[in-house]
Amino acid sequence: MSKLPHVGTTIFSVMSKLAAESNAINLSQGFPNFPVDPKLIELYQRKVGEEVHQYAPMPGNPRLITEIAELIQSSYNRRLNPGEEILVTAGATQGIFTAITALIEKGDEVIILDPSYDCYEPTITLSGGIPIRIQLDENFLPNWDAIESAVSDKTRMIITNNPHNPSGRIWDKSDMDTLEQLILKNPNLLVLSDEVYEFITFEQKHISAHAYESIHDKLITVSSFGKTFHITGWKMGYLVAPNSLMVEIKKVHQFNVFSVNSVAQAVLADYLPTVDVQTLGKFYQDKRDLFRSLMAESRFELLPCDGTYFQTARYSEISQASDVEFCKTLTTKYGVAAIPTSVFNGDGSDQHVIRFCFAKDADTLQQAAKKLCAI
Ligand SMILES: Cc1ncc(COP(=O)(O)O)c(C=O)c1O
Repeated sequence: MSKLPHVGTTIFSVMSKLAAESNAINLSQGFPNFPVDPKLIELYQRKVGEEVHQYAPMPGNPRLITEIAELIQSSYNRRLNPGEEILVTAGATQGIFTAITALIEKGDEVIILDPSYDCYEPTITLSGGIPIRIQLDENFLPNWDAIESAVSDKTRMIITNNPHNPSGRIWDKSDMDTLEQLILKNPNLLVLSDEVYEFITFEQKHISAHAYESIHDKLITVSSFGKTFHITGWKMGYLVAPNSLMVEIKKVHQFNVFSVNSVAQAVLADYLPTVDVQTLGKFYQDKRDLFRSLMAESRFELLPCDGTYFQTARYSEISQASDVEFCKTLTTKYGVAAIPTSVFNGDGSDQHVIRFCFAKDADTLQQAAKKLCAI
């Protein structure tokens, strides 16, 4: 008996393994390959010598929680009650798992928007919830008619992901306003807003769900220090939710992990006030622009990229193979690993679009683009 009979090894592990075996350049899994801020290393080295090695308080290091509240105030002009509304988690993944486990009961329907990040559906299923997968439109933006028709009195939650993995698209004000109206019209509906790429947007500014005061009592936001500070391996993130929901979320958190890495929390508490997260967009915009210009001569059709560190591309001019087959060939024959986007769709539908991660140093991007332009 399996509780998750349809779940295998995630595509990220599969492609990274194939990339290593084939000695290919890995633009598949979303992780940076450049050094982290030396200031962060220095802080870590200093902190590890201090008395920071025992359990942190269950919701998180109080100094870190205060700094997170400051970050949300300065970024979104939202004032939180730090003692009640913030929970430090072992990455966004644990935050998502904990929130869904706490809030979804057997038979509750949860809307997810495909292509969707792969941890949502299994987590809903483990809670006895029913995932309702609605396809984003051909531009990877919400199809509100389809979403609205899917909402019923059984719908307990909608999970949104903006900026969006894998497409790199971001929602504009009209999408966010429509989301707000949807939540206001359906009093039973909660929104789990996965904003792990919140600080990685380019020409268009990210509009956070934090900015919508009228839905704060229904809103759980998910953030990731891994994405913001290039430290995906630390597995550090946080949730924000109103106290009424957070009380339930904390009940699960205390038996899921109790509290998360005390050293990392102490380091981040010192680091946060010293950095300007608003510079991150420009940092990645330069990488996006470099990758796009290097790829301009290729036969790939590059799709719009408004945010995140992912560039999607159509390969119809090169091959009619399925995106999974194409990514395998790309890795083993041409030496560059990418991610097929069909695996993010519940029905496996294949738009012949693949995803490259450009969170890489310039040399890696140049080498990869050279191989890709030769196809
Ligand atoms: C959309 C999305 N949500 C959540 C996560 C998980 O973040 P973390 O590494 O902080 O658990 C990722 C990581 O790739 C992601 O892309």
